Amino acid sequence: MDVTELFVPWYDRIKPYKTDDIAMAWQNQDFHRMFVNENPVGPSEKIVEAVANAVRLGNRYPDNGVRIRKKIAEMHGADPDNVYIGNGSSEIIELMCRLFLAPGDEILLPNPIFSLYELRALNVGANVVSVDVTPDMQYDTDAMLAAITPKTKLMVLCNPNNPTGIFIPDEDIKRLLGTGIPTLFDEAYLEYHPDHESKDYLIKEFPNVVVSHTFSKAYGMAGIRFGYALADETIIQAFRKIQIPWSASLLSIAAAEAALDDTDGLRKKIEYNNAQMRYFYDELSGITGPKPYFSYGNYIIVDATDLGVKGQDVVDYLFDKKKIMIKAVKTLKDRPGIFRISVGTAEENRECMEAIRAFFATRKG
Ligand SMILES: Cc1ncc(COP(=O)(O)O)c(C=O)c1O
Repeated sequence: MDVTELFVPWYDRIKPYKTDDIAMAWQNQDFHRMFVNENPVGPSEKIVEAVANAVRLGNRYPDNGVRIRKKIAEMHGADPDNVYIGNGSSEIIELMCRLFLAPGDEILLPNPIFSLYELRALNVGANVVSVDVTPDMQYDTDAMLAAITPKTKLMVLCNPNNPTGIFIPDEDIKRLLGTGIPTLFDEAYLEYHPDHESKDYLIKEFPNVVVSHTFSKAYGMAGIRFGYALADETIIQAFRKIQIPWSASLLSIAAAEAALDDTDGLRKKIEYNNAQMRYFYDELSGITGPKPYFSYGNYIIVDATDLGVKGQDVVDYLFDKKKIMIKAVKTLKDRPGIFRISVGTAEENRECMEAIRAFFATRKG
Protein backbone atom coordinates (compact mmCIF):
# COMPACT_ATOMS: atom_id res chain seq x y z
CA MET A 1 0.00 0.00 0.00
CA ASP A 2 1.27 3.46 -0.89
CA VAL A 3 0.25 5.46 2.14
CA THR A 4 0.93 8.79 0.39
CA GLU A 5 -2.16 8.09 -1.76
CA LEU A 6 -4.19 8.48 1.40
CA PHE A 7 -2.74 11.90 2.23
CA VAL A 8 -4.71 15.08 1.42
CA PRO A 9 -3.89 16.04 -2.19
CA TRP A 10 -2.07 19.26 -1.24
CA TYR A 11 0.24 17.78 1.42
CA ASP A 12 3.14 17.63 -1.07
CA ARG A 13 3.00 21.23 -2.26
CA ILE A 14 5.64 22.40 0.20
CA LYS A 15 8.94 21.24 1.53
CA PRO A 16 9.53 21.31 5.28
CA TYR A 17 10.46 24.82 6.40
CA LYS A 18 14.17 25.07 5.71
CA THR A 19 16.03 24.63 8.97
CA ASP A 20 19.16 22.84 7.66
CA ASP A 21 21.20 26.04 7.91
CA ILE A 22 20.07 26.58 11.49
CA ALA A 23 21.01 22.97 12.31
CA MET A 24 24.41 23.52 10.70
CA ALA A 25 24.95 26.69 12.75
CA TRP A 26 24.10 24.84 15.98
CA GLN A 27 26.64 22.15 15.09
CA ASN A 28 29.34 24.70 14.29
CA GLN A 29 29.40 27.26 17.06
CA ASP A 30 32.15 29.21 15.26
CA PHE A 31 29.77 30.01 12.37
CA HIS A 32 28.27 33.48 12.44
CA ARG A 33 24.46 33.38 12.38
CA MET A 34 23.46 36.50 10.50
CA PHE A 35 20.75 34.93 8.33
CA VAL A 36 17.55 34.39 10.34
CA ASN A 37 16.95 37.74 12.04
CA GLU A 38 17.80 36.49 15.50
CA ASN A 39 18.79 38.81 18.32
CA PRO A 40 22.52 38.40 19.07
CA VAL A 41 21.89 39.42 22.71
CA GLY A 42 20.64 36.59 24.91
CA PRO A 43 17.96 36.70 27.64
CA SER A 44 18.78 38.66 30.80
CA GLU A 45 19.33 36.96 34.18
CA LYS A 46 15.82 38.00 35.23
CA ILE A 47 14.38 35.93 32.39
CA VAL A 48 16.66 32.99 33.15
CA GLU A 49 15.52 33.08 36.80
CA ALA A 50 11.84 33.26 35.89
CA VAL A 51 12.18 30.21 33.62
CA ALA A 52 14.13 28.32 36.30
CA ASN A 53 11.34 29.00 38.80
CA ALA A 54 8.67 27.90 36.34
CA VAL A 55 10.50 24.63 35.61
CA ARG A 56 9.80 23.58 39.21
CA LEU A 57 6.08 23.66 38.40
CA GLY A 58 6.60 21.85 35.12
CA ASN A 59 4.43 18.87 36.15
CA ARG A 60 1.36 21.14 35.74
CA TYR A 61 -0.42 22.19 32.55
CA PRO A 62 -0.26 25.94 32.00
CA ASP A 63 -3.35 28.13 32.05
CA ASN A 64 -4.27 30.27 29.08
CA GLY A 65 -1.87 32.96 30.29
CA VAL A 66 -4.45 34.81 32.40
CA ARG A 67 -1.85 37.19 33.88
CA ILE A 68 0.17 37.82 30.75
CA ARG A 69 -2.88 38.37 28.56
CA LYS A 70 -3.99 41.04 31.02
CA LYS A 71 -0.56 42.70 30.80
CA ILE A 72 -0.49 42.54 27.02
CA ALA A 73 -4.04 43.88 26.84
CA GLU A 74 -3.06 46.86 29.02
CA MET A 75 -0.05 47.59 26.80
CA HIS A 76 -2.33 47.75 23.79
CA GLY A 77 -5.39 49.44 25.28
CA ALA A 78 -7.41 46.27 24.68
CA ASP A 79 -9.26 43.67 26.72
CA PRO A 80 -7.70 40.29 27.68
CA ASP A 81 -10.39 38.72 25.50
CA ASN A 82 -8.75 40.44 22.53
CA VAL A 83 -5.45 38.63 23.21
CA TYR A 84 -4.36 35.17 22.04
CA ILE A 85 -0.98 33.76 23.12
CA GLY A 86 0.92 31.06 21.29
CA ASN A 87 4.11 29.36 20.24
CA GLY A 88 5.69 32.34 18.51
CA SER A 89 3.93 34.39 15.87
CA SER A 90 4.38 31.46 13.46
CA GLU A 91 1.41 29.95 15.28
CA ILE A 92 -0.69 33.02 14.51
CA ILE A 93 0.24 32.65 10.82
CA GLU A 94 -0.84 29.01 10.94
CA LEU A 95 -4.14 29.80 12.67
CA MET A 96 -4.95 32.55 10.16
CA CYS A 97 -4.40 30.14 7.26
CA ARG A 98 -6.46 27.42 8.89
CA LEU A 99 -9.28 29.78 9.86
CA PHE A 100 -9.68 31.65 6.58
CA LEU A 101 -8.30 29.54 3.73
CA ALA A 102 -9.96 26.52 2.12
CA PRO A 103 -8.45 24.59 -0.84
CA GLY A 104 -8.56 26.77 -3.97
CA ASP A 105 -8.77 30.09 -2.07
CA GLU A 106 -6.14 32.78 -2.58
CA ILE A 107 -3.78 34.49 -0.19
CA LEU A 108 -2.56 37.92 -1.30
CA LEU A 109 1.05 38.65 -0.40
CA PRO A 110 3.43 41.49 -1.15
CA ASN A 111 6.77 40.26 -2.55
CA PRO A 112 9.32 40.03 -1.04
CA ILE A 113 7.98 39.13 2.40
CA PHE A 114 8.66 36.56 5.14
CA SER A 115 8.42 33.12 3.49
CA LEU A 116 6.30 31.31 6.06
CA TYR A 117 2.97 32.85 5.03
CA GLU A 118 3.21 31.29 1.59
CA LEU A 119 4.24 27.91 2.93
CA ARG A 120 1.43 27.67 5.47
CA ALA A 121 -1.15 28.85 2.91
CA LEU A 122 -0.01 26.23 0.38
CA ASN A 123 -0.21 23.68 3.14
CA VAL A 124 -3.96 24.19 3.53
CA GLY A 125 -4.49 23.93 -0.25
CA ALA A 126 -4.66 27.66 -1.02
CA ASN A 127 -2.95 29.46 -3.92
CA VAL A 128 -0.59 32.39 -3.59
CA VAL A 129 -1.03 35.68 -5.42
CA SER A 130 2.16 37.70 -5.08
CA VAL A 131 2.50 41.40 -5.85
CA ASP A 132 6.02 42.77 -6.29
CA VAL A 133 7.03 45.85 -4.31
CA THR A 134 7.78 49.06 -6.24
CA PRO A 135 11.37 49.72 -7.42
CA ASP A 136 11.99 51.69 -4.20
CA MET A 137 10.88 48.66 -2.14
CA GLN A 138 7.51 50.09 -1.03
CA TYR A 139 4.30 48.05 -1.06
CA ASP A 140 2.50 48.55 -4.39
CA THR A 141 -0.93 49.20 -2.91
CA ASP A 142 -2.67 49.90 -6.23
CA ALA A 143 -1.35 46.66 -7.68
CA MET A 144 -2.37 44.76 -4.54
CA LEU A 145 -5.91 46.13 -4.73
CA ALA A 146 -6.04 45.24 -8.42
CA ALA A 147 -4.93 41.67 -7.65
CA ILE A 148 -7.92 40.99 -5.39
CA THR A 149 -10.36 38.42 -6.78
CA PRO A 150 -13.50 36.79 -5.35
CA LYS A 151 -11.18 34.00 -4.18
CA THR A 152 -8.95 36.30 -2.07
CA LYS A 153 -9.64 35.16 1.48
CA LEU A 154 -6.51 36.30 3.31
CA MET A 155 -3.91 39.06 2.99
CA VAL A 156 -0.73 39.74 4.93
CA LEU A 157 0.84 43.10 5.69
CA CYS A 158 4.13 43.10 7.56
CA ASN A 159 5.05 46.36 9.28
CA PRO A 160 7.97 46.93 9.19
CA ASN A 161 8.29 44.52 6.32
CA ASN A 162 10.75 41.64 6.33
CA PRO A 163 13.06 41.83 4.35
CA THR A 164 12.63 45.34 2.92
CA GLY A 165 12.51 47.05 6.33
CA ILE A 166 9.90 49.67 5.37
CA PHE A 167 6.84 50.96 7.22
CA ILE A 168 3.59 51.05 5.21
CA PRO A 169 1.97 54.51 4.99
CA ASP A 170 -1.25 54.83 7.02
CA GLU A 171 -3.43 55.65 4.00
CA ASP A 172 -2.31 52.44 2.30
CA ILE A 173 -3.08 50.36 5.38
CA LYS A 174 -6.60 51.80 5.52
CA ARG A 175 -7.21 51.26 1.83
CA LEU A 176 -6.16 47.64 2.08
CA LEU A 177 -8.05 46.87 5.29
CA GLY A 178 -11.11 48.67 3.93
CA THR A 179 -11.52 45.84 1.41
CA GLY A 180 -12.83 43.72 4.30
CA ILE A 181 -10.45 40.88 3.42
CA PRO A 182 -9.18 39.05 6.52
CA THR A 183 -5.72 40.46 7.13
CA LEU A 184 -2.77 39.44 9.23
CA PHE A 185 -0.96 42.62 10.26
CA ASP A 186 2.42 41.33 11.37
CA GLU A 187 4.35 43.63 13.76
CA ALA A 188 7.18 41.17 14.48
CA TYR A 189 9.84 43.89 14.40
CA LEU A 190 7.88 46.84 15.73
CA GLU A 191 9.39 46.71 19.24
CA TYR A 192 12.68 47.94 17.77
CA HIS A 193 10.93 51.28 17.27
CA PRO A 194 9.02 52.35 20.39
CA ASP A 195 8.55 55.75 18.71
CA HIS A 196 6.34 54.08 16.06
CA GLU A 197 2.84 53.29 17.30
CA SER A 198 1.40 49.81 17.07
CA LYS A 199 -1.60 49.54 14.78
CA ASP A 200 -3.32 47.67 17.63
CA TYR A 201 -6.20 50.21 17.58
CA LEU A 202 -7.21 48.95 14.12
CA ILE A 203 -8.79 45.88 15.72
CA LYS A 204 -11.54 48.17 17.02
CA GLU A 205 -12.27 49.60 13.59
CA PHE A 206 -11.70 46.49 11.45
CA PRO A 207 -13.14 43.13 12.56
CA ASN A 208 -11.16 41.56 9.70
CA VAL A 209 -7.70 42.41 11.09
CA VAL A 210 -5.40 40.42 13.36
CA VAL A 211 -2.28 42.19 14.68
CA SER A 212 0.54 39.83 15.63
CA HIS A 213 3.65 40.27 17.79
CA THR A 214 6.56 38.06 18.72
CA PHE A 215 9.15 37.84 21.48
CA SER A 216 11.63 36.33 19.00
CA LYS A 217 13.10 39.60 17.77
CA ALA A 218 13.63 42.69 20.00
CA TYR A 219 12.99 40.63 23.17
CA GLY A 220 15.59 38.10 21.96
CA MET A 221 13.64 34.92 22.73
CA ALA A 222 13.42 33.11 19.38
CA GLY A 223 14.30 29.74 20.90
CA ILE A 224 11.92 30.17 23.83
CA ARG A 225 8.87 30.62 21.53
CA PHE A 226 6.27 33.16 22.51
CA GLY A 227 4.03 35.33 20.38
CA TYR A 228 0.57 36.85 20.55
CA ALA A 229 -2.30 38.13 18.46
CA LEU A 230 -4.68 41.03 19.03
CA ALA A 231 -8.07 40.92 17.37
CA ASP A 232 -11.78 41.22 17.81
CA GLU A 233 -13.00 38.71 20.38
CA THR A 234 -14.82 36.69 17.69
CA ILE A 235 -11.54 35.83 15.97
CA ILE A 236 -9.76 35.13 19.27
CA GLN A 237 -12.50 32.67 20.22
CA ALA A 238 -12.22 30.99 16.81
CA PHE A 239 -8.44 30.65 17.33
CA ARG A 240 -9.15 29.02 20.69
CA LYS A 241 -11.37 26.47 18.99
CA ILE A 242 -8.85 25.41 16.35
CA GLN A 243 -5.64 25.75 18.35
CA ILE A 244 -3.57 22.95 19.83
CA PRO A 245 -4.06 23.41 23.58
CA TRP A 246 -1.08 24.62 25.66
CA SER A 247 0.88 25.81 22.64
CA ALA A 248 2.41 28.50 24.87
CA SER A 249 4.26 26.48 27.51
CA LEU A 250 4.55 27.32 31.19
CA LEU A 251 8.22 28.17 30.56
CA SER A 252 7.62 30.45 27.61
CA ILE A 253 4.83 32.30 29.45
CA ALA A 254 7.15 32.78 32.46
CA ALA A 255 9.94 34.03 30.20
CA ALA A 256 7.64 36.43 28.39
CA GLU A 257 6.23 37.84 31.65
CA ALA A 258 9.75 38.47 32.95
CA ALA A 259 10.72 40.04 29.62
CA LEU A 260 7.78 42.44 29.82
CA ASP A 261 8.91 43.53 33.30
CA ASP A 262 12.54 43.90 32.18
CA THR A 263 12.04 47.22 30.40
CA ASP A 264 15.67 48.18 30.90
CA GLY A 265 16.84 44.95 29.22
CA LEU A 266 14.57 45.61 26.24
CA ARG A 267 15.73 49.21 25.93
CA LYS A 268 19.39 48.12 25.82
CA LYS A 269 18.67 45.54 23.13
CA ILE A 270 16.82 48.14 21.07
CA GLU A 271 19.62 50.69 21.40
CA TYR A 272 22.20 48.11 20.46
CA ASN A 273 20.26 46.96 17.42
CA ASN A 274 19.52 50.40 16.10
CA ALA A 275 23.13 51.56 16.51
CA GLN A 276 24.34 48.49 14.61
CA MET A 277 21.70 48.97 11.92
CA ARG A 278 22.92 52.53 11.47
CA TYR A 279 26.50 51.19 11.26
CA PHE A 280 25.53 48.78 8.47
CA TYR A 281 23.57 51.37 6.54
CA ASP A 282 26.36 53.97 6.72
CA GLU A 283 29.15 51.50 5.90
CA LEU A 284 27.23 49.89 3.03
CA SER A 285 26.33 53.32 1.65
CA GLY A 286 30.06 54.07 1.52
CA ILE A 287 30.72 51.28 -1.02
CA THR A 288 30.29 52.28 -4.65
CA GLY A 289 27.94 49.94 -6.52
CA PRO A 290 25.68 47.95 -4.21
CA LYS A 291 22.60 49.73 -2.88
CA PRO A 292 21.54 49.30 0.76
CA TYR A 293 17.94 50.06 1.76
CA PHE A 294 17.43 51.72 5.13
CA SER A 295 15.57 49.27 7.37
CA TYR A 296 13.57 49.45 10.60
CA GLY A 297 14.14 45.78 11.45
CA ASN A 298 17.19 43.88 12.72
CA TYR A 299 18.18 43.15 9.11
CA ILE A 300 19.11 45.13 6.04
CA ILE A 301 18.87 44.30 2.35
CA VAL A 302 21.44 45.28 -0.24
CA ASP A 303 20.87 45.14 -4.00
CA ALA A 304 23.89 44.43 -6.20
CA THR A 305 21.90 43.42 -9.31
CA ASP A 306 23.22 46.33 -11.40
CA LEU A 307 26.79 45.05 -10.90
CA GLY A 308 25.83 41.70 -12.41
CA VAL A 309 26.13 40.11 -8.97
CA LYS A 310 23.73 37.46 -7.62
CA GLY A 311 22.74 37.65 -3.94
CA GLN A 312 23.88 34.05 -3.64
CA ASP A 313 27.42 35.01 -4.85
CA VAL A 314 27.78 37.29 -1.82
CA VAL A 315 26.28 34.66 0.50
CA ASP A 316 28.76 32.05 -0.75
CA TYR A 317 31.73 34.41 -0.56
CA LEU A 318 31.04 35.43 3.06
CA PHE A 319 30.57 31.82 4.06
CA ASP A 320 33.72 30.59 2.29
CA LYS A 321 35.94 33.38 3.61
CA LYS A 322 34.64 33.88 7.13
CA LYS A 323 31.87 31.37 7.90
CA ILE A 324 29.47 34.29 8.01
CA MET A 325 25.95 33.14 7.18
CA ILE A 326 23.69 35.69 5.47
CA LYS A 327 20.72 35.16 3.14
CA ALA A 328 19.99 35.72 -0.54
CA VAL A 329 16.59 37.26 -1.34
CA LYS A 330 15.59 35.50 -4.55
CA THR A 331 11.90 36.19 -5.07
CA LEU A 332 12.11 39.45 -7.07
CA LYS A 333 12.73 38.00 -10.54
CA ASP A 334 14.33 41.12 -12.01
CA ARG A 335 16.50 41.81 -8.91
CA PRO A 336 18.53 38.61 -8.35
CA GLY A 337 21.34 40.58 -6.71
CA ILE A 338 19.61 41.17 -3.37
CA PHE A 339 21.03 39.80 -0.13
CA ARG A 340 19.96 40.31 3.49
CA ILE A 341 22.19 40.68 6.54
CA SER A 342 20.86 40.19 10.08
CA VAL A 343 22.56 42.13 12.88
CA GLY A 344 25.15 40.06 14.75
CA THR A 345 27.54 40.91 17.56
CA ALA A 346 29.57 44.11 17.04
CA GLU A 347 32.60 42.04 16.07
CA GLU A 348 30.60 39.91 13.64
CA ASN A 349 29.18 43.04 12.05
CA ARG A 350 32.66 44.53 11.57
CA GLU A 351 33.95 41.26 10.08
CA CYS A 352 30.92 41.05 7.83
CA MET A 353 31.49 44.57 6.52
CA GLU A 354 35.15 43.84 5.91
CA ALA A 355 34.25 40.76 3.87
CA ILE A 356 31.60 42.63 1.89
CA ARG A 357 34.08 45.40 1.07
CA ALA A 358 36.58 42.76 -0.07
CA PHE A 359 33.94 41.07 -2.23
CA PHE A 360 33.00 44.26 -4.04
CA ALA A 361 36.67 45.30 -4.39
CA THR A 362 37.29 42.11 -6.40
CA ARG A 363 34.20 42.81 -8.50
CA LYS A 364 35.51 46.22 -9.50
CA GLY A 365 38.82 44.71 -10.59
C1 LIG B 1 7.79 38.98 9.76
C2 LIG B 1 7.92 37.78 10.62
N1 LIG B 1 6.83 37.29 11.21
C3 LIG B 1 6.89 36.19 11.98
C4 LIG B 1 8.09 35.54 12.18
C5 LIG B 1 8.06 34.30 12.99
O1 LIG B 1 8.59 34.48 14.21
P1 LIG B 1 8.25 33.60 15.49
O2 LIG B 1 7.43 32.43 15.10
O3 LIG B 1 9.59 33.23 16.02
O4 LIG B 1 7.50 34.53 16.37
C6 LIG B 1 9.25 36.03 11.59
C7 LIG B 1 10.54 35.34 11.78
O5 LIG B 1 11.55 35.64 11.23
C8 LIG B 1 9.16 37.17 10.78
O6 LIG B 1 10.22 37.68 10.15
